[in-house]
Amino acid sequence: MRPFPYPATMVDRVLDWTRGRILGGPDPTHGAQDRATLDPLLGGSITPSGIGAERAFALFTDRIVPATRPFGHPTSLSFVASAPSQAALSFDAALGAAGIFAGNWDGGAGAIHAENQALRWLSDLAGWDGQAGGVFVAGGTLGNLSALHAARTWKERRTASPPAGRRAILCSTDAHSSIRAVARVMDVDVIAVPPDPSGGLAAPVARAALTPGVFAIVANAGATNSGAVDDIAGLADLARDHDLWLHLDGAYGLAALADPAMRPIFSGIERAHSFIVDPHKWLFAPYDSCALIYRNAADGANAHGQRAEYLDALDDTHWNPSDYALHLTRRARGLPLWYALATHGTEAYGAAIAATIDTARQIADGIDAMPGVQRILGPQLSVILFRPDAMTDRDMDVWAERHRRSGALLCLPTVWRGQKVFRLCIVNPETRAKDVLAVLRTLSEGQPS
Ligand SMILES: Cc1ncc(COP(=O)(O)O)c(C=O)c1O
Repeated sequence: MRPFPYPATMVDRVLDWTRGRILGGPDPTHGAQDRATLDPLLGGSITPSGIGAERAFALFTDRIVPATRPFGHPTSLSFVASAPSQAALSFDAALGAAGIFAGNWDGGAGAIHAENQALRWLSDLAGWDGQAGGVFVAGGTLGNLSALHAARTWKERRTASPPAGRRAILCSTDAHSSIRAVARVMDVDVIAVPPDPSGGLAAPVARAALTPGVFAIVANAGATNSGAVDDIAGLADLARDHDLWLHLDGAYGLAALADPAMRPIFSGIERAHSFIVDPHKWLFAPYDSCALIYRNAADGANAHGQRAEYLDALDDTHWNPSDYALHLTRRARGLPLWYALATHGTEAYGAAIAATIDTARQIADGIDAMPGVQRILGPQLSVILFRPDAMTDRDMDVWAERHRRSGALLCLPTVWRGQKVFRLCIVNPETRAKDVLAVLRTLSEGQPS
């Protein structure tokens, strides 16, 4: 390979330019483009002799990134977006450059120790003692899979004679789609129980639905569609009574633990066996990271450690992150969260979460003041559902598409109890209620365009 002419300012350029992109306001060119458009733009970029660093980098800035959606934009309010801080984003670039192997202690001791400090902060927020521990994995889906595999292993180790029927996970019908995906991979059943009208699963309903094959209860700690939090304390009682594992899916919502005012809604978390929270959702870290934590870290290691002749040479008395989830090689993807926590301090996190919840409340108040627009649910955490009276479902799609394309607002419809509604989920402290409400007021006009 030829020597690589390192563009020393590459990271600075990208960071300045990313920031400009986020703050630069709506840009209709951002977003998906089809393959037929992209092919001529990027065609010929991989050649036998190479096109050189500057030209390849220019393709990245001028062609590749504009064909992606800036989910970090303050008006990107669908799905669960992402709002990485400048500290976390810039550190992620440094982390990539450091090329650290963080699958085991031998390769990444310092980085792993720092990641574990970030996991410690989360464990403290949950009220878990020094036995707790886990690992950062790529996302909530992998976190849920790894936790539920640990749950089944835990149950098998303490069950003398397994039940005759199939194993099952009990959860709300509003559990995230990843729970069903996990159950498919694990070849277990899902017992999905209807939640209450605001989307929270009540323990008595769950108790009535229990079957002998259930090994784990999954509680929503912030349902994606509604922001609802299940009755965690009641489900912890149920888990205790039937010797079941309680896993909290807090991929989105458990970030709110950082706000002391929100802590009571997660009461009972101290008795759960595992939880996940995605720093790339509401903890201001870049993609991709999910903190997976076991109250008793040994339960994770019992389920996940890999063995091989060439690995057995490693000293396994140390903390090896590969022992706590379904993975082996990994980057220290928890370090951007650690760096931003170290930079800004933990109180800044509480303040930033509280700010987004306050913005959601302001938007909800603004919706209430709009003639012809009904608030259907929320804010729960930072999710609001609402519906314009005069619009058909088709009008709603057209309205959403118009504002998606212009870049003014990403506010897509969802379905709530059989009815099409608009959904907003605020995770960005830079989202301004007045900007969002200015766009939403066009709904009062009842016109699709
Ligand atoms: C509650 C919940 N659980 C799990 C997931 C899956 O997380 P990921 O997309 O990081 O795999 C999501 C994603 O939005 C979620 O909101």
